Amino acid sequence: MDPAREPATMTAPTRAPGAAAGISLRGVSLTFRGARTTHVLDRVDLEVRPREVIALIGPNGCGKSTLLRVLAGLIKADGGTLAIDGQPILGPDPRVGLVFQEPRLLGWRSAESNVRFPMELAGWPKQRQQARADDLLGLVGLREYARARPGTLSGGTRQRVSIARALALEPSLLLLDEPFSALDALTRERFNVELLRLWERTGTTIILVTHSIPEAVFLADRVVVMSPRPARVIADIAVEMPRPRRLVDLDSALVASLAADVRSHLVDTTDDEIAMEEARRAIPAGLTPKDRQARNLPETDPGTPAWFDPFRPEDEP
Ligand SMILES: Nc1ncnc2c1ncn2[C@@H]1O[C@H](COP(=O)(O)OP(=O)(O)O)[C@@H](O)[C@H]1O
Ligand SMILES: [Mg+2]
Repeated sequence: MDPAREPATMTAPTRAPGAAAGISLRGVSLTFRGARTTHVLDRVDLEVRPREVIALIGPNGCGKSTLLRVLAGLIKADGGTLAIDGQPILGPDPRVGLVFQEPRLLGWRSAESNVRFPMELAGWPKQRQQARADDLLGLVGLREYARARPGTLSGGTRQRVSIARALALEPSLLLLDEPFSALDALTRERFNVELLRLWERTGTTIILVTHSIPEAVFLADRVVVMSPRPARVIADIAVEMPRPRRLVDLDSALVASLAADVRSHLVDTTDDEIAMEEARRAIPAGLTPKDRQARNLPETDPGTPAWFDPFRPEDEP
């Protein structure tokens, strides 16, 4: 066996590192009991095939982040079963990588050293840490920022570092909790394309929480809609759109009809964040010519979505 592909830690369940995993949630329930009792998850069932990309969408506060934390083994469900490739999730699990909405990087460490951090904790030899961190920074296009401290990087760049860090131990499942919500609409669209390229290369299974219906449809194989709290799965919509996908696909009739389908399941929920996302998406069409120039957008008729080259490198600070 290639030594670079050994399991991350001795405690890791047997698996081929980096191989995508199938996920099974059966009747997962959770109630927070403290000063207030909050019933958050209500018999959540979800089967995910290896390499599938699932977008989770649901009203604010319904329990999406809680579900991801349960999947990452950070909180224990009080009912039901969760398994990755048939092996139960019993605690913080090296088979799972987690990315939060706000990149939670260590400010005193460089980008490279942040990416290395999980490998240090896992006791990897230094040389292997360095080689892996170098690969990952290359994968997210940040090799030249290896020595930069997070405080000197843009929000988008910091988020790339945290995605690289989440991939450090070759997880089989990558969980992304509204990873692009803090980015402006244009950067966000580019990151969607980048995420798909990353997924093509790493081949992990992905579960992503988003408030953006078009983003969910664009990225996912299936859009799973959650009810208001306590969260249940109320719809599971297959997105049969060929890959690789391009931003222009967002304008297709298929995306529009799938988005309408997703939205129809959310009609009973008044959700400010989903409404905000819809409003933000409308911004590119309403930009002034000067704004268009500043953002390097082609001059198109007002109202026509204006896409630009998604592979253009980000303007770094
Ligand atoms: N550790 C906790 N203790 C008690 N209540 C919590 C805890 N974490 C989340 N909650 C509550 O659980 C509900 C779901 O939260 P969350 O999963 O963050 O929602 P979402 O991500 O869908 O917006 C909210 O009412 C939240 O206040
Ligand atoms: Mg959340």
